[in-house]
Amino acid sequence: MRVQIDRIARDIEIINSFTSTPGRGITRFTFSEPYMQARAHVAEELRKIGARVATTLGGNLYGRLEGSMRDFPSVMTGSHIDSVLHGGRFDGVAGVVAALEVARVMAEEKLTRRHPVDVVVFAEEEGSRFGSVMIGSRCWVGKLAPEDLDRLRDKDGVGYAAAMANAGLAPDETTVLKPGMVKAMIELHIEQSLVLESKGIAIGVVEGINGIKQSVVTLTGVPNHAGATPMGLRHDALQGAARVIAAVEEIAVAELGGNTVATVGMLACEPGQANVIPGRAQFTIDIRDLDPERIDQTARRIFSVIQTTCQARGLSFDIQPRSDTPPARLSKEVVQLIEETARDNGIKTLRMPSGALHDSSILPEVTEVGMIFVPSKAGRSHCSEEETDLKDIRAGAEVLLGSVARLAF
Ligand code: CO
Repeated sequence: MRVQIDRIARDIEIINSFTSTPGRGITRFTFSEPYMQARAHVAEELRKIGARVATTLGGNLYGRLEGSMRDFPSVMTGSHIDSVLHGGRFDGVAGVVAALEVARVMAEEKLTRRHPVDVVVFAEEEGSRFGSVMIGSRCWVGKLAPEDLDRLRDKDGVGYAAAMANAGLAPDETTVLKPGMVKAMIELHIEQSLVLESKGIAIGVVEGINGIKQSVVTLTGVPNHAGATPMGLRHDALQGAARVIAAVEEIAVAELGGNTVATVGMLACEPGQANVIPGRAQFTIDIRDLDPERIDQTARRIFSVIQTTCQARGLSFDIQPRSDTPPARLSKEVVQLIEETARDNGIKTLRMPSGALHDSSILPEVTEVGMIFVPSKAGRSHCSEEETDLKDIRAGAEVLLGSVARLAF
């Protein structure tokens, strides 16, 4: 039982021949012409192996290889083929082509399966066209209603449902995914970071998807003349912000043994003049971890630095929550199954959190979810330099095949 890397490489080539920005990275927005061409290729390959191909709520594509037991829940695998603007060749695509190859091998080698195997292409994972992420998977599990879809517009004002219809797509299955319908789901995805490469490990086994807490902090001081105001008599909002921003990094690093990451990604200051002491500084804080307790602890420590800094400097502050997404724990059983399968194949693995969101963060409420990460060269992603070695994709696909085969048996 072996996956064939030349077939995987060919699928990657064909899918990436469809882009709106040839020569400038991959741009494949959901339901656009290149998207539909790439989608048609996947559908065609699925039909070739006798899969029943259908479109679900939200425009996801899936192809089902029936199992011997008609009413058994399916084993699902797949990812997405929509991209960011000028994105890379592997984000999402790696998981779709690996799933396709797994289905091919299972069909050709007539592996015993009692459960159906579903290969899935989720729609609008990136949110590049409609500004909201993971629309296909959220629709499928009933988190987005058809009315919500009508409210989602692209930059030309075209609604999600209309864009789908314009592309010639209509859901031929309107079932909402419920617990019990899918036995397990495994998504292979590129890591989009440096951890696997830096450790020389081919496979990451994702334990969960990081929760994200974002806040907007505003410090207010007194804008004043940069020449006439002595240093001791200032209430400089930006100097206060600088202390807090430095502390954000120190506190995240000090979360010993954890995977906490904290980022200040946006900073603005007013009035923004070279000769005026800043009266107002505003910045964002983004904290992520797999452990909600560590997220809260990090936030509390940062907020206490804000308080003491402002007290010492005669500034006032305001902290507004922007978003609070809890971590998604993936299935312990599936994590173990992936690890065992990798061990049987002589492939080293590393348990890790996912720092980015995926459709797999939506599915734990309806099924047992696992994710396989493969290394990203230099950690680059969402850009044309995005690269993953074919040998790593083969290792990942091999582990995916073994895991899906055992789940479907
Ligand atoms: Co992706």
